Amino acid sequence: MPEPAGRGAGLAVRGLTVRFGGAVAVDGLDLDVPRGRITGLIGPNGAGKTTTFNACTGLTRPSEGMVSLDGHDITVAPPQQRARLGLGRTFQRMKLFESSSVGTNVALGREALMAGGNPWRHLRQPRRDRRAIAAAAAEALALCGISPLADVPVADLSTGQRRLVELARVVAGGFSLLLLDEPSSGLDVSETDDFGRVLEQLVGERGVGILLVEHDMRLVMSVCAWLHVIDFGRPIFQGTAEETQGSATVQAAYLGAVA
Ligand SMILES: Nc1ncnc2c1ncn2[C@@H]1O[C@H](COP(=O)(O)OP(=O)(O)OP(=O)(O)O)[C@@H](O)[C@H]1O
Ligand SMILES: [Mg+2]
Repeated sequence: MPEPAGRGAGLAVRGLTVRFGGAVAVDGLDLDVPRGRITGLIGPNGAGKTTTFNACTGLTRPSEGMVSLDGHDITVAPPQQRARLGLGRTFQRMKLFESSSVGTNVALGREALMAGGNPWRHLRQPRRDRRAIAAAAAEALALCGISPLADVPVADLSTGQRRLVELARVVAGGFSLLLLDEPSSGLDVSETDDFGRVLEQLVGERGVGILLVEHDMRLVMSVCAWLHVIDFGRPIFQGTAEETQGSATVQAAYLGAVA
């Protein structure tokens, strides 16, 4: 079935194929991540979801196919250039600085982007840069509902709070397209619901586009406007949450196992 158009061009993946030696991790995937909605990418363990993310963000070079952002071909662009064009991501395994405060961790999301490839600018930040970083961090903390934790060291946080810090850090980057790889893993039901509301707010208030990889079907089905399902690297279904849940193909390949 044809995919309905979203707001803004966003991220487009066409015929993406990634091989590791003789193994095919992603096999001819087409994907659209427009702004203004949450698009889900789901499938069993090892289906190729993280590999797809890595190809989109420049950590893995596709064997075939194309990745574009707002019509710009970024298939072989370095990660920093993609970030400057508005593409941000989180990692499946969290990388937070344990001994630093929540506020410092979140500010890094903006700082790294502003410093770019210029180490001198990183060392000698102009005052206006410092102000912009502080403002972006404060806004991201507020949006993610963790402003009261700003001065707490990350080492003292619960898993749920860490997940929100990780999200706030990428939000502070000011990206217009976010790729989130299992952002809610380890959260309990009520934390996951809160997390989903933050994602919806990001899309509703800031108009960002989100590509969400997640095994928590409760979250996926409640926030995603459109879902892509892959299995062994191959696209097997796309549709709304309702259509996806009703698909016998998806039930057999994936949902039957996680439900
Ligand atoms: N760097 C690599 N070298 C070789 N094989 C890899 C590499 N990265 C991933 N793979 C393989 O590619 C396939 C897809 O892995 P990927 O991590 O993308 O799956 P996934 O859908 O993210 O799984 P999960 O739900 O467990 O996170 C797997 O068979 C994996 O073993
Ligand atoms: Mg993965």
